Amino acid sequence: MVVLAIVLIGFAMSSAVESADRNFASVSTWRNSTEATVSHGRFKRQLQCGLYEWRCADGTCIASDGECDGKIDCPDKSDETHARCRSKKCQSNWFRCTYGACVDGNAPCNNRVECADQSDELLTRCRNDSRLYKDTFRCLDENEISAEYFCDGILDCLDGSDETVRACADKICPGHLFQCAYGACVDQGADCNGRNDCADGSDEAPELCNRIPTTVEITNRRPAISGQCELPPYPEHGTYTTGLNTRRVTPGQVLPYVKLKVSCDEGYGVVGDSVIFCQDGNWSTKSGQPILPKCTPFCRLDPHISVHYHCQLTGQLKGSRPCNPSEPAGTVVVPECNRPNYSLRDLRYMRCKSNGQWNRIVTCHPVCGRLTPAGETLIINGKTAKRGEVPWHVAIYRKPHRSNNLHELICGGSIVSNNVVISAGHCFWVSKRPQAASMFAVATAKLFSDWDHPDDKDAQKSELKSIALPDHFKGASANFQSDLAILILETPFEYHTYVRPVCLGFRSDVGNLRLQRGDLGKVAGFGLTAENGPGSPVLKVVDLPYVPVNECYRITPETFAENITGDKICAGYNNGTAALCKGDSGGGLAFSEDDLGVTRYYLRGVVSTAPKGPGTCNPYTVITFTLIRQHEDFINQFL
Ligand SMILES: *[C@@H]1O[C@H](CO)[C@@H](O)[C@H](O)[C@H]1NC(C)=O
Ligand SMILES: *[C@@H]1O[C@H](CO)[C@@H](O)[C@H](O)[C@H]1NC(C)=O
Ligand SMILES: *[C@@H]1O[C@H](CO)[C@@H](O)[C@H](O)[C@H]1NC(C)=O
Ligand SMILES: *[C@@H]1O[C@H](CO)[C@@H](O)[C@H](O)[C@H]1NC(C)=O
Ligand SMILES: *[C@@H]1O[C@H](CO)[C@@H](O)[C@H](O)[C@H]1NC(C)=O
Ligand SMILES: *[C@@H]1O[C@H](CO)[C@@H](O)[C@H](O)[C@H]1NC(C)=O
Repeated sequence: MVVLAIVLIGFAMSSAVESADRNFASVSTWRNSTEATVSHGRFKRQLQCGLYEWRCADGTCIASDGECDGKIDCPDKSDETHARCRSKKCQSNWFRCTYGACVDGNAPCNNRVECADQSDELLTRCRNDSRLYKDTFRCLDENEISAEYFCDGILDCLDGSDETVRACADKICPGHLFQCAYGACVDQGADCNGRNDCADGSDEAPELCNRIPTTVEITNRRPAISGQCELPPYPEHGTYTTGLNTRRVTPGQVLPYVKLKVSCDEGYGVVGDSVIFCQDGNWSTKSGQPILPKCTPFCRLDPHISVHYHCQLTGQLKGSRPCNPSEPAGTVVVPECNRPNYSLRDLRYMRCKSNGQWNRIVTCHPVCGRLTPAGETLIINGKTAKRGEVPWHVAIYRKPHRSNNLHELICGGSIVSNNVVISAGHCFWVSKRPQAASMFAVATAKLFSDWDHPDDKDAQKSELKSIALPDHFKGASANFQSDLAILILETPFEYHTYVRPVCLGFRSDVGNLRLQRGDLGKVAGFGLTAENGPGSPVLKVVDLPYVPVNECYRITPETFAENITGDKICAGYNNGTAALCKGDSGGGLAFSEDDLGVTRYYLRGVVSTAPKGPGTCNPYTVITFTLIRQHEDFINQFL
C-alpha cells in the first residue's frame, strides 16, 4: 500500500519554528486566486499595484523585492511559496532556501529563521548531527531506513520524518530532477503530472500547475495524507507508545499516521482495546477524535497455590472466564479452593474496588487434620504401622555431635503450617538454657526412626531456622509450665498425602469443644512403648483417653501435682495399655471433630511430662499435655 502525501509537518526545533513550518505548509492549502478588494491590515488589496510593487495572490500589494526573500509579506503567504520561488537563482554569496528564496549568506545556522521554510536552520550542519546518511537514514523515532529512501518523495519512516525539510534541507537535486518544496528530489516531469510525487504534494500545488485545486487523485504512491494526526495529551495515569514497538512519541506531535498503544501506570489498566489508530487526521475512535482509552484502577491478582480465581463475566453472559494478572475495578472474582489439598469453610467472592484494591483476598487453607486412611500398612516385628496415618507428625533429631555421630531422635512435633512445627519446650532446654536451633533437624513422612532409613522414601527433612520458647517456660524450675516450642523450618515442607498440617482451632468453634472424659486423642511417636524397651523403630500411633484434671491429680503421685500446672490436660491409661515415653515428648495430642461432615483432627495438647516410673519409662501412668488453647497468642505470632 502506497500513500500519497500532500503535507507533512516535520519535527521542529522549537514551537516557534514549528508554527512557522506549519504556516509554510499552507502552500498546499491554496484556495482561491480570485482578486479581492477587502482591506487587510496594513496591506491594500487592489486590482493594480504600483510600479515597484508586487501583487500577492490575494491582491495585496507588497514591495517588489519582498517576493522570494525568505520573509513572508503577503497575508496569504503567496510571496514565499515553492511554486513561486523554486526557479530562483541566487547570487553566489547568498543562501538559497530549500524552496528557492534567496536570503543573506550568513543565514544558515545563525539561530535565526530567515527562510520561510526554516531551511536555513534545519540544515544538518546546524545541529551538529553526528549521523551521516551513508547507508541508513535514522528516522526521528530512531527506526532506520535505507539511505536511498529518504528524501525521495515517499514516506518510509513511520513518523514521516524522512520527507521533511529537516531531513531534506541539504538536498541539491541534479538538474533533471524536480525538487519538492521540502527538498526531496523526484523524477523529472513530476510537476503537474496529476500525481503526487512529493510527500507534501508540492509537485501538484495548484499554484505551480496554475489550476484551481481539486482533490488529488490517488496514484501508485502511498495513500494521501489529507490531514495530520496531532497526538493527544497522555492519558491520566498512563502514557502511550506507538503500537509497533516502543517508539517515543509525545503529545502535540503531528504525524501523518500513527498507532497509539496506551500503557497505564502500575495499578491501572485499560478496559477494552488499548490501541487507537489515526490516518490522515482520521482517528479510529467512534467519535473520530483522538480520545484515548482511559487508565482505570486495576486490582492486582496474585496467584496463590491454594486457590483458583475465576472472574465473573459481566453483562448478559453467565459464567466465568480465567482472570488476568490484574483486573479492572468492579470485577468480581469467584475463588475456588484447590481441592483436595486446600479448603475454606467460608468462601466469599472478591470484588475489585474503585481504588484498585480488593475488598478481600481469599486464599484457602491447606486441608488440615485429616488422617490418611489409604496409608500403606506395614508389619514390622509383628506390629503394624500405617504409613502416614498421622500426616502432621514430625520427628525431631539432635544432629551428630562429639559424643554421638548419629542423628539422635529426641522428640516429636506437629506440623501446623508448611514451615512451622509445634513441639515441647523441654526438648530444647538443657541446663536451664534454650539450645541453639542449629543443633537440631526435623524430618516428616518418616515411618522409621533412623534418620537415614533407606525405606523412608517420602521423608522430607529440614534444618531449623529458629526455635521459640514461651517466656514462662523455665523447665523443671517452673514445673514445666508453658512447655511449648515453635520451630521455624529452614526448608518448608511440601504438602502431599503423607505430609499435612494438623488443625488449630483457636478462632473456629470446632477444635475448642469441651473435652469429655474418655474422648480419644491421637498421638504418634517413636518413643519407648514398653518398660525399658528399646525405642520403637517404626512410628506408632496410639489413641489416649482424656482424663479430667481432678482424676489426673488423684491417679498420679501426690508429688507429681506440681507438674500439673494450669496449662495442662491429662490423657492416657494407668493400667499399662499404652504409654508414651522418651522420644515422644513434643508430639501432638489431636482430637477429632466433625467439621461440616468432615472429620478433622485438632491439635489440643503437646506431650509434656509424666510421673517417673521404676524404669526409664512408666506405662502405668497418665501423661500431661500442654494445652494449646492457652498459648494462642504465643503461637499466633508465628503463623
Ligand atoms: C473563489 O472565488 C470564486 C469567485 O469569486 C468564488 O465563487 C468561490 O467561492 C471562491 N472559492 C473559495 C474556496 O474561496
Ligand atoms: C558536536 O558534537 C560533538 C560530539 O558529539 C561534541 O564533541 C561537540 O562539542 C559538539 N559541538 C557543538 C558546537 O555542539
Ligand atoms: C475518515 O475515514 C472515513 C472512513 O474510512 C472516511 O469515510 C472519511 O472520509 C475519512 N475522513 C477524512 C477526513 O479522511
Ligand atoms: C494434592 O495433593 C496430592 C498428594 O496428596 C497431589 O498429588 C496433588 O497433585 C495435589 N493436588 C493439587 C491440585 O495440588
Ligand atoms: C485399661 O483400661 C481401659 C479403660 O479403662 C480398658 O479398656 C483396658 O481393657 C484396660 N487394660 C488392661 C490391660 O487392664
Ligand atoms: C515433673 O516432670 C518431669 C519431666 O517428666 C519429671 O522429671 C519430674 O519428675 C516430674 N516431677 C515430679 C514431682 O514427678
